[in-house]
Amino acid sequence: MTLKISVIGTGYLGVTHAACVASMGFQVVGIDIDPEKIALLAQGKLPFYEPELEELLQSELASGRLTFSADISQISQADVHFLCVGTPQQKDGLAADLTYVNSALAAIAPVVKDGSLVVGKSTVPVGTAVRLRNELLSVNPLVDLAWNPEFLREGFAVEDTLHPNRLVVGVTNDRAEAILKVVYSKNLEAGVPWIRADLPTSELVKVAANSFLATKISFINAMAEICEAAGGDVTVLAKAIGHDPRIGNRFLQAGIGFGGGCLPKDIRAFMARAQELGADQALEFLRDIDSINLRARARMIELVRRDLSEDLTGKKIAVLGAAFKPDSDDVRDSPALDISAQVHAAGAIVMVHDPKAMANAAQRFPALQYASSIEECVAGADLILHLTEWKSYREIDPVALKKLVRQPIMIDGRNALDRESWVNAGWKFRALGRASLG
Ligand code: UDX
Repeated sequence: MTLKISVIGTGYLGVTHAACVASMGFQVVGIDIDPEKIALLAQGKLPFYEPELEELLQSELASGRLTFSADISQISQADVHFLCVGTPQQKDGLAADLTYVNSALAAIAPVVKDGSLVVGKSTVPVGTAVRLRNELLSVNPLVDLAWNPEFLREGFAVEDTLHPNRLVVGVTNDRAEAILKVVYSKNLEAGVPWIRADLPTSELVKVAANSFLATKISFINAMAEICEAAGGDVTVLAKAIGHDPRIGNRFLQAGIGFGGGCLPKDIRAFMARAQELGADQALEFLRDIDSINLRARARMIELVRRDLSEDLTGKKIAVLGAAFKPDSDDVRDSPALDISAQVHAAGAIVMVHDPKAMANAAQRFPALQYASSIEECVAGADLILHLTEWKSYREIDPVALKKLVRQPIMIDGRNALDRESWVNAGWKFRALGRASLG
């Protein structure tokens, strides 16, 4: 069966999904309400940085399988419609803002053809899919709605979409599942585990997975606090517990914690939804996960004060990294930028460098200074903060860098640098959850 597919919302998730599904051989139209974004994508240009995606976008456009349009009527011939719009945190609360999901559904409901399947991919509070399905069927009883959460990581978006570690489909009938099996036939042939669930479970899988990941990170950051108090080393502790396969060594990197467009907002929205359901007690621990995470940022600033002084006025601080994680230009809820802004607010002169995220960072925090090279960033610095673990920062020669700074003090907020080589080069080296050396 040759299915025609539409993707509604061409943000991070939507563009990746559209390009990847086109590369599986389907005819795909990507739709967005932002005509500028659509014009850019139609020229093969990505409005954000993501490894491999721009190349894929260009090759799929050239193949003729992928097109973009701001005109919603272009979806009328599609058999499957993926809803990929954003669900940010509400401005005045913890819950998810469903404005875009609701308006996208309202816009497509009168246009989709009989027999077609709408598939939600956005991360939504549990219960949303059932409500949207009812709303859709009240407009056209001859269509259906399923839910198919997305687990892609920024920096690995293409890899995660083409080779997911599982596919979860929330459906209410066999026909919807059969259609999704056609869409994902290549993945199924490759042996990707397929999990059929009801609508609420499929929505919950996503927030449960992100809550677990956030918990793992905050767990190791709590251990870092204990290590600091007791004179232990959290990096050795993480390695040691990670050898137990029940625990595993991934997501046990202690440091300044998690940020980005997903983990922070998803755990908050999950708590808000649990409260609405009268099950808030079950997720009370997520409040601690959130505070441990934010505390890591405050602990970094304490480390800065310990080496410089309580008063940071006029101190020159060089910051390596602005993105919320490496291989991304995303600065949403970035711990690195949050820390930079806080030391700046405390009076320091802050110079920031990032290989990809500088434009986004400057837009968010125009008061910080931005350097186009590592050397320019650290020139005359009283202290360096390493806040996003880009590969290029791990490759820095500490001997050469020492010649450029005023004082050789490095605080590694990601526990990613080779401490020994920095100490041997004469640096004072500090990190969260480890003893200060030098
Ligand atoms: C996350 C989920 O991993 C993904 O499955 C989901 O679809 C979207 O949310 P992403 O936001 O791209 O993906 O980033 P992720 O790689 O999970 O990292 C999140 C944050 O945790 C980053 O700020 C990262 O620096 C931090 N982190 C990660 C740690 O502090 N320590 C770790 O050990 C791992």
